[in-house]
Amino acid sequence: MSAEILITENIGGYWIGELKKRFTVAVEPDLWRSADQIKSRLPGCRALIVRNQTRVDAELLSATDNLKIVGRAGAGLDNIEVPAATAKGIVVVSTPDQNSISVAELVIGVMLALARKIPAANQSTRAGGWDRQQFAGTELYGKNFGVIGLGRIGFLTAIRARALGMRILAHDQFVSPDSVAAAETHAQLMDLDSVLAQSDFVSCHTPLTPETRHLFNYERFCRMKPAAFFLNLARGEVVDEAGLVRALQEKKIAGAGLDVREQEPPQPGPLAGLENVILTPHIAAFTCEAQERVVAAVCQDVAAVLSGGAAKNFVNFPKPKN
Ligand code: MLT
Repeated sequence: MSAEILITENIGGYWIGELKKRFTVAVEPDLWRSADQIKSRLPGCRALIVRNQTRVDAELLSATDNLKIVGRAGAGLDNIEVPAATAKGIVVVSTPDQNSISVAELVIGVMLALARKIPAANQSTRAGGWDRQQFAGTELYGKNFGVIGLGRIGFLTAIRARALGMRILAHDQFVSPDSVAAAETHAQLMDLDSVLAQSDFVSCHTPLTPETRHLFNYERFCRMKPAAFFLNLARGEVVDEAGLVRALQEKKIAGAGLDVREQEPPQPGPLAGLENVILTPHIAAFTCEAQERVVAAVCQDVAAVLSGGAAKNFVNFPKPKN
């Protein structure tokens, strides 16, 4: 017999324990790797909980016969085909804000690490080196921080960058100059290419959509200052990695920090061989605090919907229509 709640990625902790007291729950951390195996587990299932690795599309949802809710433990919805769930009357919930602070903090951390060459200095010192000239860096103070996407995370990151004395330049076609986000960050709103041309650090905070896929390509990197750094802790496919590698190799930009990749986990490739690049394995949201909030929010919404109640963080509707 199927579990009432199927979890296809590595999600655990107190709130999963709470769900287990009330429902049958199957936690299968590696199931996301095989759509066929997920499909075989879906009949009879009432809730599906995923992170970003499970592709929840129309094809997968065709195997459901009693699914009430899909819970996305995270903010990005690019792996969930929401219209397909909506068509089947299935509630989709996410955690739009629960991990934003953690992501914003890591952006600042990676920016500082790039500016001060912390990873390379650490490696060299551990190996017995003491070369101070080689690790001369740049200050953030007084520099231009270009934020592409002034939504929740872009906003929180810009506030923190401003606290470090940076000037905020922003591009977001959905944010107006009289918005709270622009006012609070003192952001100068401008077109994308102007932000790229004027910024010392460019941080990407756009969701992945057909319009933003490969938004950052070789030509765009060439519009940046040669001394500028590029940060992407949002979605990997927003960047054309081959174009980024070429721009880095040709010194069109000074370096990059990537927490997300075009393919996750990535294949070995040239990025890992470049010294002016910091790579992390999609950990921006992985703090104890953020994960506690994320898992709590999803589990509470799933429990509410399975008990006949309404979801709080719904993307389409609060109660199932099936
Ligand atoms: C998010 O979208 O919330 C983060 O990138 C973390 C994740 O994808 O699970």
